[in-house]
Amino acid sequence: MNNTFSSDWIEELKSRNDIVYVISKYCNLNKKGKYYWTCCPFHFEKTPSMAVDEVEQYFHCYGCGAGGDVITFIQKIESVDFYDACKILAENAGMKLPSIVKDENIAQKKKEREEIYAVLRDCALYYYNNLKLESAKPANEYIQKRRLKPETITSWGIGYSLGWNQVVEYLTKKGYKLDILLKAGIVEEKNGKIFDAYAKRLIFPIINSFGNVVGFSGRMLENADFAKYKNTAQTAVFDKSKCVFGINMIKKAKNLQELKEIIIVEGQMDVISLHQAGVKNAVATLGTALTSFHAKEIKRFCDKVVVCFDGDGAGKKATLRSLDILVNAGLDVYVASLPTGVDPDEFIISYGKEKFLTHIANAKHWVEYLIYSYYEKYNMQKSNEKASFVSEALALIRTLKSESEQNIYLDLVKNLTNISMDVLRSDLKNEMPKQTSEPLVKKQEEQRLVFENAYVKATKFIMASILHKKPYAKLTDEIRQNIINPDYIKIYDYFLECYANNKKPIIGAVFERFDADNNNDVLDLINYEFIESEDNENFFDGCVKQIVISGLNAKQKEITEKLSTIKDLNERKQLITELNDIILKIKGLKN
Ligand code: UTP
Ligand code: MN
Repeated sequence: MNNTFSSDWIEELKSRNDIVYVISKYCNLNKKGKYYWTCCPFHFEKTPSMAVDEVEQYFHCYGCGAGGDVITFIQKIESVDFYDACKILAENAGMKLPSIVKDENIAQKKKEREEIYAVLRDCALYYYNNLKLESAKPANEYIQKRRLKPETITSWGIGYSLGWNQVVEYLTKKGYKLDILLKAGIVEEKNGKIFDAYAKRLIFPIINSFGNVVGFSGRMLENADFAKYKNTAQTAVFDKSKCVFGINMIKKAKNLQELKEIIIVEGQMDVISLHQAGVKNAVATLGTALTSFHAKEIKRFCDKVVVCFDGDGAGKKATLRSLDILVNAGLDVYVASLPTGVDPDEFIISYGKEKFLTHIANAKHWVEYLIYSYYEKYNMQKSNEKASFVSEALALIRTLKSESEQNIYLDLVKNLTNISMDVLRSDLKNEMPKQTSEPLVKKQEEQRLVFENAYVKATKFIMASILHKKPYAKLTDEIRQNIINPDYIKIYDYFLECYANNKKPIIGAVFERFDADNNNDVLDLINYEFIESEDNENFFDGCVKQIVISGLNAKQKEITEKLSTIKDLNERKQLITELNDIILKIKGLKN
């Protein structure tokens, strides 16, 4: 069996899909000189800056830098991976997709995921259509109470569950097995009975950025002892720690207009209410604290975010927790917290869109927000508390990279304390004495993280370099021996197989062998962003050294631990020789 798309097949696919013809199905192309021109579909613009070269069969946007061949174009415009882009183009050209599936297990998983998507789509449609029934009166009354307009119901696909088993009957009649309903999280089983997991609730479908329904959030219509919202439990296609509610709408909004920022709110009703009022850039997590996965998903669409949580204690806590994560994800972060007891839904209903937008426009940069939050903690009339405030604020300002940025916030501290700029500046330069009370364990843990990070980063760079066929990438036994991530081991073995057959790795093959959509470690390799200006050749060698050292360190630890338990002198002697060897090797590598 073939295990990659052969380069011949890819060439044929490209030759049968003329780039001008393919792009013209999405964009208005005008020939001027050597190129065809169009407004770039990947960023908002009014004058065309995307060129399509018919002879060389590539496109390039002078505005946003997007570019590539016909496969890249389909990947971007349809938001699909390499493999699915090939599938679309093959269909266009009436070509058969060569079978490249090797791992039956993964093929099976993919098939199951597709089945789950299908049943979820049918289920969402069923719930939606329920609203038209006479028996949906309670839901329609609730919808009126929440001031949801008919077009909002349609665009968000909001629906209603009539009771405990109607959905089961409907979907099984349609041919779906109970097993798949369970796997999709539509139904639950208790005491041998199967029932609708969202019975009698108003249904909000949760849709991912590719437009697939991945789960539901169901709201109680009236107060009861049950949870107000019930969300889909973890399934093969849904994980609430990764899913961003509204991200599908963000993608739509981005195609229509420039997206200045994304507003993060706490609840899905807030998201829907804001969109209804014309604020089309709001998202929320689904009743869970923000994670780095959420941040990463958001960053795919925009680099700037405004956190707009409740002004109460819980909202403030949630804001503080999320800042770290968002900033670490490389986002430009602002905070616009609301007055206590008002959520964005209530705010926009009471005060309207303009007031809300003004509120967002007045959002504070995260550093400013944090400085104010420190300020509120202390009584500035007491000199010791004032000093604590200054030291806390300066510690934060010290972490900022540019001096101009530091100056902006020093100025704020000056205004809040009346301490002169000169004094603040000199304090800023004097590293504050380290708090001795900091537990050593924490420090060791931090060191371990830094260390682990270096290892992970090095491994990723090595793997990505090989996958993306960089000229400096080499395969060595040292690399193979020091990879720990089981998926990376599999990918590396695929590399070995390619090299043994005198072939280069193909990204599409990695997609096929792995459940890449659900595996961030694998996605990170596929989407790796190389910094081409750097000396990557030397860096590659440095990374190999790094992972070898990490491997040796782990070995060293293992032997040291063993030594503490073994009594037999001969055995000890042998272990000590091994240990010395390792220490020498590490020393040699570090020099
Ligand atoms: P809130 O309690 O702030 O509700 O929960 P809300 O968004 O204002 O909703 P309405 O206006 O009362 O309808 C915020 C989010 O927390 C999750 C939901 O995602 C909700 O949108 N949540 C809340 C749950 O998952 N389960 C619950 O029982 C309650
Ligand atoms: Mn609310």
